[in-house]
Amino acid sequence: NWSMKEFVDVEIAKIKETVGDDEVLCALSGGVDSAVVAALLHKAIGDKLTCMFVDHGLLRLNEAESVVDTFKGRFGMNLYKIDARNEFMSLLKGVSDPEQKRKIIGNEFIRVFERESAKFTQIKWLAQGTLYTDVIESGTDTAQTIKSHHNVGGLPENMQFKLIEPLNTLFKDEVRELGTLLGLPDEIVHRQPFPGPGLAIRVLGEVTEEKLDLVRRSDAILREEIALAGLDKEIWQYFTALPDMKSVGVMGDQRTYEYTVGIRAVTSIDGMTADWARIPYDVLDKISRRIINEVKGINRVVLDCTSKPPATIEWE
Ligand code: XMP
Repeated sequence: NWSMKEFVDVEIAKIKETVGDDEVLCALSGGVDSAVVAALLHKAIGDKLTCMFVDHGLLRLNEAESVVDTFKGRFGMNLYKIDARNEFMSLLKGVSDPEQKRKIIGNEFIRVFERESAKFTQIKWLAQGTLYTDVIESGTDTAQTIKSHHNVGGLPENMQFKLIEPLNTLFKDEVRELGTLLGLPDEIVHRQPFPGPGLAIRVLGEVTEEKLDLVRRSDAILREEIALAGLDKEIWQYFTALPDMKSVGVMGDQRTYEYTVGIRAVTSIDGMTADWARIPYDVLDKISRRIINEVKGINRVVLDCTSKPPATIEWE
């Protein structure tokens, strides 16, 4: 009778046997898989684990801080954080094509990872959050071709490291169960899917700090209200997107000419197809009012009521 507790014991013994006294590096992305790998490795080898977190500046409100709080603060792990925000922003300057943005971010992530990990000459192993589904899908290439899915966390192949992939027999729901067992907070374990290129593909067109800030703050309000309404487990993915467009409004007795923000919320099983989520009108009303009142620079909120297909989940 197999249980997750036994899995932890068996896997920890395996990890210890595999790496011996060697040190291990683990790249955290903010996502579930890398978080669970780090927690498992930490339990197995403690201080011999070093986690690396590249902050590309494209995460949601407070996410980068929460990675640091959780892994360094709560778990007391060796966490090496790289502030690469300026590098990513300057490479994205003037770029408005979605695929181009994905390529730039994916490549830059690899470049930063190579440069920074080369500093850890004593580390022999790299731990990765490869799941069973990744193992069976590689080779068959089921990746959709509508959008190139550059996963931040996809790492270069010729490295100084040997690979260790302790989750490669697990499915996503098992990884979540394991994460909870290892003491990871719900916000990480039940994190909704989030694209590797992050908010860069939710700011349509050229990415600027101003637009990132608008999408970040409106998204935080949306998430807060969805959770308050108890809809966060029902809706598969929900976020705001900022089209590259301004429209006229009136606030007080002032004419405004500001950005529009879109609410995207879908129910789905795997992201391949999706239905737009029927959020109750009063919840939408509260979200809309709060965004207009609290996020200066936005004067109109619209709802995306398109399913996939024909639309995709992300707007880029
Ligand atoms: P679309 O927009 O193609 O999204 O309907 C389907 C799912 O994939 C996510 N997505 C991405 N994930 N890198 C990723 O890691 C990407 O470039 C990317 N583009 C879309 C999207 O958030 C949704 O969950």
